[in-house]
Amino acid sequence: MKGIILAGGRGERLFPITRAISKQLLPVYDKPMVFYPLCSLMRCGIREVLIITRPDEVERFRELLSDGTQWGMEISYAAQSAPGGIAEAPLIAADFLGEEPFALALGDNIFCGIEFDSCLDRAVAEHDGATVFVKQVEHPERYGVISFDGDGVPQKIVEKPTEPASPFAVTGLYLYDNAAIAMARALKPSVRGEIEITEINDQYLRQSRLSVVQLPDSVSWLDMGTPQGLLEASRLVEAEQRTPGVRIGVPEQVALRSGWIDSEAAMRIAASYGDNDYGRYLRQLVESG
Ligand code: G1P
Repeated sequence: MKGIILAGGRGERLFPITRAISKQLLPVYDKPMVFYPLCSLMRCGIREVLIITRPDEVERFRELLSDGTQWGMEISYAAQSAPGGIAEAPLIAADFLGEEPFALALGDNIFCGIEFDSCLDRAVAEHDGATVFVKQVEHPERYGVISFDGDGVPQKIVEKPTEPASPFAVTGLYLYDNAAIAMARALKPSVRGEIEITEINDQYLRQSRLSVVQLPDSVSWLDMGTPQGLLEASRLVEAEQRTPGVRIGVPEQVALRSGWIDSEAAMRIAASYGDNDYGRYLRQLVESG
């Protein structure tokens, strides 16, 4: 499976913070935002990732993430010239994806909680058609909303409904087979002028080819695209990391645990951070085996 991170857009909900810099490069507690969705993909076992950004930000992302070899990965880059919707991502990535299935992660979505890994493992192992991860939220009208019948069978997915039929939001991590590319090609822009990922998910649902994973209460999810979400995410990461030995969104940790890099490579990266907190954590990680 290949991976895409959509890190484009103008980040208007965060203006003026994002006038001169992409939202996905902003700090979320002690790391750049994009580290978190990158780790979500890595935890799915994905080593080949395409990062889609605004054209003027490709080089800045490359400076941060390089070509991925430092984590035993292959990271490449593509530009989204204008924000035309999330469903543009598979179209921009079509050559990169070839015939492969893929995971799409929104660059401003963070997940955390120890049960998240097992949710991902199961979803990837059982994946067929499309898979979405859903979470009960207080303000479903801000998201894609999925409704269920009395037996818990999914009925419909609607983008930002004024009267949500359920409290379940569809989060920004999606697994697809290759058919999603053709579906994206056939989409027409919605009222907000974008081609909507929700329409692709709803098509899979109507074809009975959508798996819906309900994230347990122990897994937190946030969209970091608003000032409130950005602050809450920093608070969440800081709170989680108060437990000794726990860090969220550390690519070296996932790479090391997955056997994509060895301890020497991790130590080299640690050395590049000198004696700062991140470098010390990496050294500890290697030393604790
Ligand atoms: C997008 C999707 C929406 C999803 C949300 C998750 O919304 O369109 O279905 O629930 O991401 O963050 P947007 O960020 O474009 O408002």
